[in-house]
Amino acid sequence: MVMVLSSLFESVDVGSIRVKNRIVMPPITTNYASMSGEVSDLLIRHYVERARGGVGMIIVEACSVHRYGRAFYCQLGAFNDGFKPGLARLANAIKSYNVAVFLQLFHAGRQTTSAISGAQPIAPSPIPCKTIRETPREMTLEDIEEIENSFTNAAYRAKTCGFDGVEIHGAHGYLISEFLSPYTNRRTDGYGGSLENRARFALEIVERIREKCGFSFTVGFRINGSDFIDGGLTIDESIKIAKMLEDVGVNIIHVSAGMYESREYIVQPMYFPRGLLIPLAERIKKEVSIPVIAVGRINDPKLAEDIVYHKRVDMVAMGRALIADPELPRKAFEGRLNDVRKCIACIDGCVGRLVYGFQVKCSVNPLKGLEGFINIEKTVKPKKALVIGAGPAGLEAARMLALRGHEVLVIDRNSDIGGALRLALKFKFKSELGELIDWYRIQLKNLNVKVLTGIEADEKYILSIKPDVVILASGSKPLTLSIPGSQFMYVVDDVLTGKIEVKDDVIIIGGGLIGCELAIHLASQGLKVTIVEAQDDIARDTPIQNKMALLKLLKEANVKIVLKAKPIEARNNCLIVEVDGNKEILKANSVILSIGRLKEDWLWWSLKNRVCELHIIGDAVNPGKIIDAVTDGFRIGITI
Ligand SMILES: Cc1cc2nc3c(=O)[nH]c(=O)nc-3n(C[C@H](O)[C@H](O)[C@H](O)COP(=O)(O)O)c2cc1C
Ligand code: SF4
Repeated sequence: MVMVLSSLFESVDVGSIRVKNRIVMPPITTNYASMSGEVSDLLIRHYVERARGGVGMIIVEACSVHRYGRAFYCQLGAFNDGFKPGLARLANAIKSYNVAVFLQLFHAGRQTTSAISGAQPIAPSPIPCKTIRETPREMTLEDIEEIENSFTNAAYRAKTCGFDGVEIHGAHGYLISEFLSPYTNRRTDGYGGSLENRARFALEIVERIREKCGFSFTVGFRINGSDFIDGGLTIDESIKIAKMLEDVGVNIIHVSAGMYESREYIVQPMYFPRGLLIPLAERIKKEVSIPVIAVGRINDPKLAEDIVYHKRVDMVAMGRALIADPELPRKAFEGRLNDVRKCIACIDGCVGRLVYGFQVKCSVNPLKGLEGFINIEKTVKPKKALVIGAGPAGLEAARMLALRGHEVLVIDRNSDIGGALRLALKFKFKSELGELIDWYRIQLKNLNVKVLTGIEADEKYILSIKPDVVILASGSKPLTLSIPGSQFMYVVDDVLTGKIEVKDDVIIIGGGLIGCELAIHLASQGLKVTIVEAQDDIARDTPIQNKMALLKLLKEANVKIVLKAKPIEARNNCLIVEVDGNKEILKANSVILSIGRLKEDWLWWSLKNRVCELHIIGDAVNPGKIIDAVTDGFRIGITI
């Protein structure tokens, strides 16, 4: 057995427990609990899958300590003894894999709505969150007493259910974080004003838990290294708070960042570099003597090893990395680094669904959310399968078919596999998609899937192969716009494939995700870019974390945005648009269309009734995102 990442697999002492390695699964709310907050079978299978994969410590997702403390409809609860049997089942299931298990204790504060929590939200001060817009009730001293008790009782329940410890959620703009931050805490009593006063609520909670649960019970605290908001908590204050927490007996500090008004720092999109929050954790590590966990886009075991090896922090949390590949720790331990399917930080499948009240899934891991429901079984009737198109849908279909014992041939008209992913790679901030393509390349090779590129599949060619089943994953092409001067307009693919060269003033018609990304890409090359959007907002087709990051990047890149604008005519040096009934002439050396995609399904019509079994998947049916393509490829791969 090769073990190349030795630092990552050294044990570490946290409070009274020894953790077998340095990889932590941070809290990830899944919406898998019941509506009343009970542990469900799916929730247990989700954690067992990760525990089995070799992670050292699991911090179970945010668990509401109070019946009005929830921020999500199907959020876990620990606010009365009725939750104990489920929590005990969960803790024991995880511990049976020799994994340390913590429960994250949570109160939403102002970052919820009364529709979800069941009562008017509470906060240190009655300031509404700009993204929630519901004014919270200022907490009285009685409220403070009640909530401190709720945290204490929930911690005690966790202890009696077999959890090794608890993590107090003091980050991300939820209740405790609201007390800590000068941005949200404007109190003038003993719980507001000075840092000591703002920290009082958190410190009292820790002290009460210590008193009730004893000194052998391990207590962690999640803190923001920065709120990333003007007037919010900064690293200098966070360091001081961390020291105070250590003084009152906290055993481990977990350094995260952001609040709802700076959400892109809570769950960081692909526009941010890997490991962007490590310097914050590193600063805190230098000032305390208890272990410190770093988190945030640490999706590569080699990066994790590097962080621990250089003693920048003691442990690394790999949240979405473990959503994308629960076996990451075991693969890393065995030196099978190429086998790790990395999180691409797309946001779409996990938190992008959570914020709309759906269960967590994953763009690259189609089994996410189906743990225990699907067994990938060998087929009893192996077939000769031809997959046409090596984009994400075709690649996933080929992988699943081969895993199940079918003989698979993949053909693609391009010179390499990847389909639409390969085009997206041209954006610097999407370069990690190349690792997903490489992952498929390796998987297909290991599964003996034959891949032929540079082949335009026509009816004659396909029939000559005599396949038992054809899976058409022929993708999509950009939509065009029929207005006068359309010969002066190009599509996104023309730019990304290098078919055309864009110069000076560029207009992008369509302010969806791709249009915005193209704008940032071109602006970074020194071009003057304008987005023309028909609706009254841009980036409406992407989760809020991505949108918030994109808006900042567009601003930094000086991209001009013209909303509610209808293109009327393109000329060789301008685009004429109608805004509020008035015509405007926008200077343009290049006009690029980014208004959506059209399925490429013509082969379906010529193959229909000509092959024994024909399926069509992915963009060729309904142009969508990576998650849609991979899910569809997986679906067909397990059904044939
Ligand atoms: C779907 C989802 C749910 C999350 N739920 C929680 C939570 O319950 N408590 C918490 O402190 N952080 C939560 N986070 C933030 C993660 O713990 C982590 O800090 C973040 O995802 C960045 O780390 P990563 O890049 O390793 O995923 C959540 C993140 C995601 C993606
Ligand atoms: S959905 Fe995207 S961001 Fe979330 S875990 Fe999967 S790959 Fe990562």
